[in-house]
Amino acid sequence: MKVNKRIFLFLSVIAVSVVCFPQQVIQNVISREKTSLNGKWKYIVDPYETGYYNYRQQPRDEENYFDPDAIFNNAKATDKTQKVEYDFDLSPTMNIPGDWNSQDDKLFYYEGTVWFKKSFDYAKSEPGNRVYVNFGAVNYRADVYLNGKKLGFHEGGFTPFGFEITKILKPKDNFLIVKVDNKRRRDAVPTVNADWWNYGGITRDVDIIETPASFVIDYLIQLKKDSGNVISGYIRLDGISVSGKTVTLSIPEMGFSRNLVTDEKGYAGFEFVINKITYWSPENPKLYNLVIKNDKETINDRIGFRMISVKGHDILLNGQPVFLKGISIHEENPLRGGRAYCIEDARMLLTWAKELGCNFVRLAHYPHNEYMLRLADEMGIMVWEENPVYWSIMFENETTYNLAEKQLSEMMSRDKNRSSVIIWSMANETPLSNARIKFINKLISYTRLTDNTRIVSAAMEISGVEGKEGVLTVNDPLVESVDIISFNEYIGWYSGLPDACKETTWEIKQDKPVIISEFGGDALYGMHGDTLTRWSEEYQENLYKKNLDMLGKIPQLRGMSPWILADFRSPRRLLPGIQDGWNRKGLISEKGYKKKAFYILQKYYKTK
Ligand code: GCU
Repeated sequence: MKVNKRIFLFLSVIAVSVVCFPQQVIQNVISREKTSLNGKWKYIVDPYETGYYNYRQQPRDEENYFDPDAIFNNAKATDKTQKVEYDFDLSPTMNIPGDWNSQDDKLFYYEGTVWFKKSFDYAKSEPGNRVYVNFGAVNYRADVYLNGKKLGFHEGGFTPFGFEITKILKPKDNFLIVKVDNKRRRDAVPTVNADWWNYGGITRDVDIIETPASFVIDYLIQLKKDSGNVISGYIRLDGISVSGKTVTLSIPEMGFSRNLVTDEKGYAGFEFVINKITYWSPENPKLYNLVIKNDKETINDRIGFRMISVKGHDILLNGQPVFLKGISIHEENPLRGGRAYCIEDARMLLTWAKELGCNFVRLAHYPHNEYMLRLADEMGIMVWEENPVYWSIMFENETTYNLAEKQLSEMMSRDKNRSSVIIWSMANETPLSNARIKFINKLISYTRLTDNTRIVSAAMEISGVEGKEGVLTVNDPLVESVDIISFNEYIGWYSGLPDACKETTWEIKQDKPVIISEFGGDALYGMHGDTLTRWSEEYQENLYKKNLDMLGKIPQLRGMSPWILADFRSPRRLLPGIQDGWNRKGLISEKGYKKKAFYILQKYYKTK
């Protein structure tokens, strides 16, 4: 089968940012044989990037001589005459994965460059094998060096990337150095303004992956669009001799096993009919163990099969109408006041969502770590995943577009086999303009070409209806190109008081499902007052009651993800004694206590 356009787009994750060594996104790093580099890493804070730029502001990694002042060289003075103005061995350590803001008080507000170093020995198990270093995510820009050699760089704080290190790796005394820069930039994605903490650092797992000379680098295995019994996809080998190779795909529980032969590009596409599939759903999150064999290499994965689509006002899961009982979540462990990064963090957040009665979560506003998605698969929670095109990014800027598409493609590539992921969201609360509509429609076309099995949407904003007092609508051209009309509304918080809900009606003409991607209001846990006392639990409780009544009247309403599961850090929230750097719209406080509104939503979801 020829490589069709869609598969080509899943493959194109590789090309965009080749610097020194091509970046590779390896599918299913989590269950591969690997050596973790997690743990204590040395770090050097370098606000003036002295270790990177010389005094003429020229990058030191473009010099063609050994520069001891380049921190990626990890130089050491070897005699008393020598001048080296940094020393990792004398520098502090922090835990990786982890953000620097919650680990070093001096870095709580820090936005800039920090250098990280990890030394390690590595003995290959087979001389002919290849070796990769893989990062789950680094916020925001990572320049990566091994033994003084530049591997490359990656931009985007929430998606995986990696580099092949086979040729540079030594059996002993390797030093991996990462320059991490989380400075916000106007042309970046996200841009300078966001309502979450700009946690910096190597925020997810770092692993060394060893593979055979030609190995299974990527695969897609899902139900074909609109089909309940055709499983389709591909397996792709990477390496020198990948043509005409036999790989075996097995799903033992289905009694299925098939030998596939790769084409000249190492690619083997397939489609096969399986009549007895137990579909994945929140009620029965059925996952099948799957085995891919390539010569001596074995890849295991757990994959669910489900159909998701829209029809008129309905969202259909496995052909049945479903109501998305959701909550929005930031990738933060509020108890630690830092970026969430591990299975325990994911379990805590998704268990809270389950307690709320959720069958759906909106992971805002960027791709969360892979543990969240795999646990959502296991726990039966449907997922909205979002690309960090947030508020006023530079829509007319081509570099910005490329960054947005690249992050989208990395997110889709990593999670394409997750049955929990039902919606790809392109953006959040972006201002109307021709450049913006062109930009987002281009992302939508890319998404539909890459994956036609999932729903596409974006969190839009609302507006009034000319001449109709108290009537609201979504006056956004994007409503024509998305599958679901999703919007954020803050009646009772940013506009009016909760009673305004009683005077509000909605006019949404499209024959499409509607999801309320955000509504809510702030409350400080333990602060009590009457329902008109802002910041009190009673105000938030009342706001939820009024909003749920109002929204329930929208005929196309098929789901919601109120803002937000737990209080989260935000540099925009400055009210002393109440906010203190926290957005308080959580239904759970930063100490894990449930607010009164939690039970209002819990009760409502029992009726759905
Ligand atoms: C916005 C935005 C969120 C923000 C929330 C708030 O709608 O999407 O990122 O945190 O409102 O103001 O609390």
